[in-house]
Amino acid sequence: MAKVISIVHQKGGVGKTTTTVNLGAALALENKKILIVDFDQQANATITLGIKREEVQRDIVNFLLDDCSNNVILKTGDSNLDLIPASLKIATFEQMIQNVEDKELLLQKKLDTLKDIYDYILIDCPPALGVIIDNALYASDSVIIPVECSFYAYDALTQMVNKIDEIQKVKPLEIEGILLTKLDNRNTIGYNIVEKVKFEFPFKTFNTIISISSHIQEAPMYGKSVIQFSYNSRGSKEYRDLAKEILEGK
Ligand SMILES: Nc1ncnc2c1ncn2[C@@H]1O[C@H](COP(=O)(O)OP(=O)(O)OP(=O)(O)O)[C@@H](O)[C@H]1O
Ligand SMILES: [Mg+2]
Repeated sequence: MAKVISIVHQKGGVGKTTTTVNLGAALALENKKILIVDFDQQANATITLGIKREEVQRDIVNFLLDDCSNNVILKTGDSNLDLIPASLKIATFEQMIQNVEDKELLLQKKLDTLKDIYDYILIDCPPALGVIIDNALYASDSVIIPVECSFYAYDALTQMVNKIDEIQKVKPLEIEGILLTKLDNRNTIGYNIVEKVKFEFPFKTFNTIISISSHIQEAPMYGKSVIQFSYNSRGSKEYRDLAKEILEGK
């Protein structure tokens, strides 16, 4: 039975997509069957998994709204890792579902039909708080909140945690963990943020921290996860450590 995890933070550029794709690849390496749901119109997860924008005929919006949604799921270069791709159609999604009953439950209902096939379903969310995030959170068992080791990302964390508190009042939703990302070991501000987050969320912060890494940055250009692109790099090892931490936490 799949565990559904959303990768969320309303702040942009904190490492949501990077975490979704690389964690997905790392869990796939542990022989888990993974589905990545790209729920962001930027389609960064789709592209990082080697699918070109023009190849996407049917996307997450078709998956949610069409009666027959079987053929939306794409295979990737990794046999354990499948993808529901994104496209610009998501830009009009909110408007399209304005009058739909229980519009925040659309994803949950559809994913329920796939839970026997996968071990983990990872949802890459856009940098916003709205109906897309509501759909993702209602469909999820838990969330990972990536926090870039910078002041603005740290500052935005409270708002994200409040949003999760709000959802927790109506349904179970665990914080799988807060993931510190893009730590630059050459300056102290990053370490200050690490201290602050660990102090405020001692039981919720992953032990694994993701450092700034050129391999992580470069891999999407080749349509690959950092694990496929450079298995022995530091970035690859850190995401493999994160996967182990999540598997051990189960
Ligand atoms: N550990 C890292 N080291 C170096 N660069 C990184 C790292 N993590 C992410 N990046 C880079 O930072 C940028 C933002 O990362 P990413 O796209 O994963 O963030 P995001 O939260 O998904 O952004 P958005 O909110 O726009 O969806 C990208 O260029 C990515 O390659
Ligand atoms: Mg993203």
